[in-house]
Amino acid sequence: MKIARVTLSDRAAGKVYADESGPEIERVVEALFEEQVEWQRAVFPDERALIEQALRRFCDEEHCPLVITTGGTGPAARDVTPEATRAVIEKELPGFGELMRMRSYEKVPTAILSRAVAGIRGTSLIVNLPGRPSAIAECLPLIAPAIAEAVDHLTGMRPRLRS
Ligand code: MTE
Repeated sequence: MKIARVTLSDRAAGKVYADESGPEIERVVEALFEEQVEWQRAVFPDERALIEQALRRFCDEEHCPLVITTGGTGPAARDVTPEATRAVIEKELPGFGELMRMRSYEKVPTAILSRAVAGIRGTSLIVNLPGRPSAIAECLPLIAPAIAEAVDHLTGMRPRLRS
């Protein structure tokens, strides 16, 4: 299965620090799913036009059934991932963000600062995750069953979860 993982961070894109969140997405997805993954990797600054362009490319040209972003979901002026995602999706799936905020709040009270959204573009599911590597490990397992179901609805191919 082809999966895009897109890190949105001015500092990771500017090499101020290494991107740890993208590799963490790979680690957690491969621990959750049995599928062999062909990864499409990208790191961009928090620029809405660049993010929209990348999301369109991964959906429309690379035909990734799943596009996972990390970062840029917070309240800061430069955080524009949810706006870019909303601009490209055709249907929003609010349950992903609702569940991640609700369950993460039990561990991290600041979890409600994430405005992460998810939705469908064509036959692709786009999911925003918060930027911290620990948030990726906390959030992805919660939404993995719904990811499998959504991808099945979109492509007819259901990614198998490890038992
Ligand atoms: N969710 C989880 N599970 N764990 C976290 O540490 N951090 C929160 C929130 N969600 C966090 C979390 C914080 S402090 C912020 S500001 C928002 O995610 C937005 O983060 P982002 O801008 O890196 O996407």
